[in-house]
Amino acid sequence: MNFKTQAMGAGGLCAVAADALLVMVAGSTVPEGLDKPIEALLSTALKDGDFTFKPGQSLYAHRVPGVKASRLAFVSAGDGSVKALRKAVAAGVALLKGGGSTQVAVALAGAVWTPAHAEALVAAVTDGLYTYRLTKPSAAPAAKLQAVSLVCSKAEVTALNAGLVRGEAIAAGVTLARELANRPGNHCTPTHLAEETKALGKAFGLKVQVLERKQLEKLGMGSFLAVAQGSEQPPKFIIAQYLGGTKGEAPVVLVGKGITFDTGGISIKPAGDMDEMKFDMGGAASVIGTLRAVAGLKAKVNLICVIPACENMPDGRAVKPGDVVTSMSGQTIEVLNTDAEGRLILCDALTYVERFKPAAVVDIATLTGACVIALGHHRSGLFSADDALAAELQACGDTAGDPAWRMPLDEEYDEALKSNFADMGNVGGRAGGAITAAKFLQRFTGQLSWAHLDIAGSGWKSGVAKGATGRPVALLTHFVLGRAR
Ligand code: BES
Ligand code: MN
Ligand code: ZN
Repeated sequence: MNFKTQAMGAGGLCAVAADALLVMVAGSTVPEGLDKPIEALLSTALKDGDFTFKPGQSLYAHRVPGVKASRLAFVSAGDGSVKALRKAVAAGVALLKGGGSTQVAVALAGAVWTPAHAEALVAAVTDGLYTYRLTKPSAAPAAKLQAVSLVCSKAEVTALNAGLVRGEAIAAGVTLARELANRPGNHCTPTHLAEETKALGKAFGLKVQVLERKQLEKLGMGSFLAVAQGSEQPPKFIIAQYLGGTKGEAPVVLVGKGITFDTGGISIKPAGDMDEMKFDMGGAASVIGTLRAVAGLKAKVNLICVIPACENMPDGRAVKPGDVVTSMSGQTIEVLNTDAEGRLILCDALTYVERFKPAAVVDIATLTGACVIALGHHRSGLFSADDALAAELQACGDTAGDPAWRMPLDEEYDEALKSNFADMGNVGGRAGGAITAAKFLQRFTGQLSWAHLDIAGSGWKSGVAKGATGRPVALLTHFVLGRAR
């Protein structure tokens, strides 16, 4: 998809050349300054009850006299906020997707474009047009749409182009994350994740290292390896570095949970919906997507991405409930439930990244069903003892339309992890399950400025719309860009 700005000439919207002109209508009255034929059509439709200002409401017209574009569509864009615009563009794309348009021009009436609106436009269009095809090549071919132009005034072009560029980079990252997470577990193995990261590294000139089981044993990653030991698929520990900042500048480190399939292990999960556990590498996918977005923008920042990747399988060699393992940090862990495997692979990764002396570490994981109960599917769970870092991430999520909500980390929650046979157990009971999981991770963060994002609810959708969301790539990209010079 090609995105550009299109400065409106003296002829106004009526003279805009495009297969379709999509007018986003903000507010609750007919906006001022619309060209006569367009204003007339909108007013008549309102009077006839065929259009309302209810957000997402749309009206479609073909070959309107006096309008150069072959198709004219209106979509109500609520209060004209970035969030409302994004929803309206999504509705507009749905309207035009199956039709004959290849070039669409998008105008905003009743509100003013900002770079954030431009970014949201790209996000909505890209989201609406993505189709998973790897194992379903028969899926309806992507829409004919090839180019989207944002109609604005000449004076706005430079600023809005910058918004489009940022939006395109983020959208490419989101699409990559969705695609990787959607791939079934028999395709998207730890080895596949490593290969995909290497391919990204080649395309963007990144340093990519993949540590194998032998090296992980040497490093003493007993916790990560315990999860991996029940699988025929070899574990991979992926490290990708984008060094766009100055030499020696402390990097931002992202750690993504890369469980390519989570059966639960010996503490096996029920069969219903277990297929969705192919999405259990959504954290890893979002880290790879963010890497792509940041590298694509050539941001002046050092970013290191780390992904412990393996399968969680039941097997004769699998880790058993009650087994005690020694983590890379030296702390021992009683594996009370083999289904609480995400924290077992992340803890060793958190210890590993200390060597980078990071400015900040954020781990991203589809970690707990409890987080879905707490926050549902809209906001990701955000945990950090560092108030400034928590506020920074929360703000990035809100601006990027990829929101998170801060959860507590009081020391009282830590007591649930007590074990008689090791330094800690790997579960703390059902109550506050998302928090006790975060408390477990916190035990491995030492002096790090650290935050944890639980994306169990936001990482994918179930039901008819089953598929990965690519979240929280937008949040993370905004965060990393905010740390750039
Ligand atoms: N990957 C799951 C978390 C999950 C479950 C995300 C369902 C989305 C939907 C994780 O590895 C897991 O199994 N967690 C357990 C932890 C429990 C055993 C303490 C859970 O949430 O049930
Ligand atoms: Mn699990
Ligand atoms: Zn899991």
